[in-house]
Amino acid sequence: MGKDKSRHDGATRLVTTGRSGDFARYVVNPPIWRASTHLYEDCAALRAGPSTNQDGRFFYGRRGSPTQWSLGEALTELEPGAAGTVLYPSGLAAIVGALMAVVKTGDVLLLADNAYDPTRATAMGVLKRFGVEHRFFDPLDRHAYAAAFCDRTTAVMLENPGSLTMEVCDVPALATIAREKGAVSLIDNTWATSLGFAALEHGCDIAITALTKHVGGHSDLMMGAASAGERLYRKLRLGAQQLGHVVSPDDAALALRGLRTMGVRLERETTSALAIAQWLSQRDDVAHVLCPILPGAPGHELWQRDFTGGCGLFSFVLRGHDDAARCRLVDSLELFGIGYSWGGFESLALPFDVEPVRAQMAWPKPGWEVEDSCGIRLSIGLEDADDLIADLERGFAAMNEG
Ligand SMILES: Cc1ncc(COP(=O)(O)O)c(C=O)c1O
Repeated sequence: MGKDKSRHDGATRLVTTGRSGDFARYVVNPPIWRASTHLYEDCAALRAGPSTNQDGRFFYGRRGSPTQWSLGEALTELEPGAAGTVLYPSGLAAIVGALMAVVKTGDVLLLADNAYDPTRATAMGVLKRFGVEHRFFDPLDRHAYAAAFCDRTTAVMLENPGSLTMEVCDVPALATIAREKGAVSLIDNTWATSLGFAALEHGCDIAITALTKHVGGHSDLMMGAASAGERLYRKLRLGAQQLGHVVSPDDAALALRGLRTMGVRLERETTSALAIAQWLSQRDDVAHVLCPILPGAPGHELWQRDFTGGCGLFSFVLRGHDDAARCRLVDSLELFGIGYSWGGFESLALPFDVEPVRAQMAWPKPGWEVEDSCGIRLSIGLEDADDLIADLERGFAAMNEG
């Protein structure tokens, strides 16, 4: 298409992006190119194939086809500052693939203490086995973070807001320190996506998104992506090729389809989440609402400063109730499914306890009572907010009856 799309805002870019292939003259969406074998004109063309290793060239199925290239192109266009995007078969594969592309034996990885649990497990498992050390840091304590660097620290892994407890950290400040210390900063930006938080523009070197969540949006696919500027994109791409990562063209087409409506879904989910968070914050049986989009909640000011959007994912903590009470609440919900994922069109609830998964962050937090330890994470979907509030009301009634 060759037009300047950078001047358009997010909603428009979601519609126009990833449609530069020849197909776009005839159909709106790229065809699903199912292919392991790519064919060559003759032996000379076959032999020339491996030497070029360029984007968007037929070679062999593991390097994708126009369906996957269209999705990669779309995600790159949506991430200001990105030169390219690598697709992975899950969000976790994107995290592991990106980390493995930038660390080596003997390096030290700094890991935010509120990172997604499987990210922590990767550091403590496969990376450790390959001789990469890790240190957890409290992402809200900038001095402790700066002090955690050593001359072997080559990478910093951030997540914003943090998993489950939803702390918002000062990404530009943390990324600047990483850069000054010569380390690469990676961020799990799944919560906001590039629409809500321009990670590379805010100083990060690699922006990772679990496309399984908001981009897919319909709870029917697993995929991840990592976007970066030219130098690191090349590293990511080579690393993914050497690890044999590829995503199916069918899933890539689903992800592209999800992307087109992601803006309106996120807007709607954010509006509903805010209404529900406000309602929860007025209840006596709720001790804390951990929702950065809620005025007055922890992290709200940084969210307002750095983000251009939100989503439907947030948590709350019950006031002094035990797990049995929490289970009565969650089990009696009719509209909320009980499940691990989020970002789909349907609402979900997930009970969680924070304390066991924190290494560095103070617990209980300042201002928190020890007995306020039962958390519930909500992923707000596209149902009517009033119906969801009525469902939660029923859950709290069941909890308090027990
Ligand atoms: C913050 C965050 N990052 C990454 C992932 C991993 O994504 P996937 O399930 O596609 O591996 C998840 C999944 O729940 C997540 O919550």
